[in-house]
Amino acid sequence: MKLFLDTANVDHVREIAALGILDGVTTNPSLVLKEGKDFKETVLAMCELVKEVSAQVTATDVEGMKTQALEYAGWHKHVVVKVPMTTEGLKTVRFLSGKQIKTNVTLVFSVPQAILAAKAGATMISPFVGRIDDTGGDGMLLIADILEAWRHYDFDTQVLVASVRKPEHVTRAATMGAHICTIPFAVFQHLSQHPLTDAGLKKFLDDWEKTKQS
Ligand code: E4P
Repeated sequence: MKLFLDTANVDHVREIAALGILDGVTTNPSLVLKEGKDFKETVLAMCELVKEVSAQVTATDVEGMKTQALEYAGWHKHVVVKVPMTTEGLKTVRFLSGKQIKTNVTLVFSVPQAILAAKAGATMISPFVGRIDDTGGDGMLLIADILEAWRHYDFDTQVLVASVRKPEHVTRAATMGAHICTIPFAVFQHLSQHPLTDAGLKKFLDDWEKTKQS
């Protein structure tokens, strides 16, 4: 499973990328607002750190989306154009697919949406699991359904688990066989930790001390 960081914070990407296990980054307009930095500079800085950086178009009509998408794709070869799951977005994805430009269809909340995006040629789709959980549902059931549908066909489109809120989402994404999981920095920091690891290491070090060996 590819691991992405869900952020517009370049320092956070640098910190996790330094571990050597980060495959990509997803950004969105809300994350860009939160950081308050220039969008293009942010994307370019991230493209130097990882191989796939999703940059979201903000136009809502096909021509506007195409114009923005071509501009973003020209910034760096690591840019993945993020397009919303709308009919205009699907036309844009089809157009970009014909130009071998990578796309990430965002705001996917159903299996039919996932299938339409895959048939339009999306490189990846982003079902938002946390936002479904927020409304009282179980977002990971959508991932299970999409992956089940994928088993019947030969879609190349990768399923990217988005809107992750907790390590449990990462666990379930991996056990279900999702292709990618994009993770907020705060959640990512928890992934390497376990209280039994801490307790076990303390015991080993204490016992080593008692052997009086150096
Ligand atoms: C994905 O690409 C989105 O940026 C993100 O996962 C949305 O998550 P949120 O629901 O926490 O805003």
